[in-house]
Amino acid sequence: LLDEQGKDYFMRVKKASQQMGQLIDDLLKLSRLTRVQIHPEYTDLATIAESITNDLKASDPEREVEFVIKQDMVARADPNLIRIALQNLFDNAWKYTRKNKKTSIEFSFLKKDNQVIYFIKDNGVGFDMQYVDKLFGSFQRLHTTQEFEGSGIGLATVQRIIHRHFGRIWAEGEINKGATFFFTL
Ligand SMILES: Nc1ncnc2c1ncn2[C@@H]1O[C@H](COP(=O)(O)OP(=O)(O)OP(=O)(O)O)[C@@H](O)[C@H]1O
Ligand SMILES: [Mg+2]
Repeated sequence: LLDEQGKDYFMRVKKASQQMGQLIDDLLKLSRLTRVQIHPEYTDLATIAESITNDLKASDPEREVEFVIKQDMVARADPNLIRIALQNLFDNAWKYTRKNKKTSIEFSFLKKDNQVIYFIKDNGVGFDMQYVDKLFGSFQRLHTTQEFEGSGIGLATVQRIIHRHFGRIWAEGEINKGATFFFTL
């Protein structure tokens, strides 16, 4: 039988091994992404975004979060893969705005030189542009696990998905002024 200290230790080992399991899972998914066939079709990104953001709202109804999603954003994309990418981007927007009193998260697009540039913008903790190149690397994190949980595989996954679509992805941020992730398809 375990005493209090033993129980605490056991719980921490258990949690660490669960995190490790999650990490291995994510890594496997990431490596598969390089090989899977992609099946692009006309896909409404707004519909996918609605379902993701409804789940997020339901996960914490107490939070005051305004989602602004531009309607009818039809793109040629693999619906399953683009959902994974959007899920990761919205998860981040949701997570890195956790300390806000009022959160606003926008998903829309702009047009530049005849190209459509999608973006997801939040008003959260942001990041230092000096380290922007690190964001999309596996296991690269700009925040500590104590402050914000995570393994640093989300954006590497998103980047891989966007690249599989021959698109580009980049980010802009400012500490305490939020972050914006841009991508093309
Ligand atoms: N919306 C955002 N606002 C501020 N920083 C962000 C945002 N999105 C990502 N980052 C920074 O980029 C890092 C990498 O993001 P990524 O999604 O790859 O990892 P993560 O969220 O830490 O973990 P997970 O693997 O669970 O997604 C984060 O640790 C964070 O420092
Ligand atoms: Mg993430």
